[in-house]
Amino acid sequence: MGSYRPGQTIDTLVDRAIEGARSSGSVEVDKVVLVERDIAYCKNCMACRRDGQAQPRARCVIADDMQEIYPLIEAADGYIFGTPVNMGHVTAVMKTFLERICWVFARPGSWPLPGCPQPRTPKQRKAVIIASSGLIAPLLRRFCDEATPLIKRTALDSLNARLVGRLYAGAVEKRGVEPYLSKAYALGKKLAS
Ligand SMILES: Cc1cc2nc3c(=O)[nH]c(=O)nc-3n(C[C@H](O)[C@H](O)[C@H](O)COP(=O)(O)O)c2cc1C
Repeated sequence: MGSYRPGQTIDTLVDRAIEGARSSGSVEVDKVVLVERDIAYCKNCMACRRDGQAQPRARCVIADDMQEIYPLIEAADGYIFGTPVNMGHVTAVMKTFLERICWVFARPGSWPLPGCPQPRTPKQRKAVIIASSGLIAPLLRRFCDEATPLIKRTALDSLNARLVGRLYAGAVEKRGVEPYLSKAYALGKKLAS
């Protein structure tokens, strides 16, 4: 959950998606509220990228809450990413989180360009993305939402997680969250099933 405001738009939609996922049976969910955790910037030390071990997760040298979060990410079969669109992109806390995932779960591959991240794990996973914007309506989404493509790419390249659905909750300042609740629930249900 990558919003700065627990209890507001993205948090509400992520919770609704979790409800949808849980409605599909015995699904275990770990919710990580990024802004409440101690997550430092990546240092670009590249210890993770150089880690040639065969494990699905490389070691990160930074001692912070990511050390508790990494095992949850590794154990998961699917992911719900939620972020507001700020200045066209993911929030800073979400970007920090994605940078900390990038090479820990990937190694340099050969396609589409030599050196690009490729998932360390052969385990196939799934992901859904929920993004919200204050002003821009869904019709104009493609001109302002760089958040969804970034998360989609990171999920695929680092976590081996294919996107199975996404929700863009546009113009929430005017529309509020209500019109998007049922789609969030359906997304969670789809992810779990
Ligand atoms: C720094 C900042 C930049 C923002 N940039 C945009 C933007 O580019 N387009 C937009 O429609 N809304 C923008 N917003 C509004 C947020 O997208 C909106 O408040 C958010 O989706 C609501 O999610 P929340 O209730 O979970 O915080 C911005 C908000 C902030 C604080």
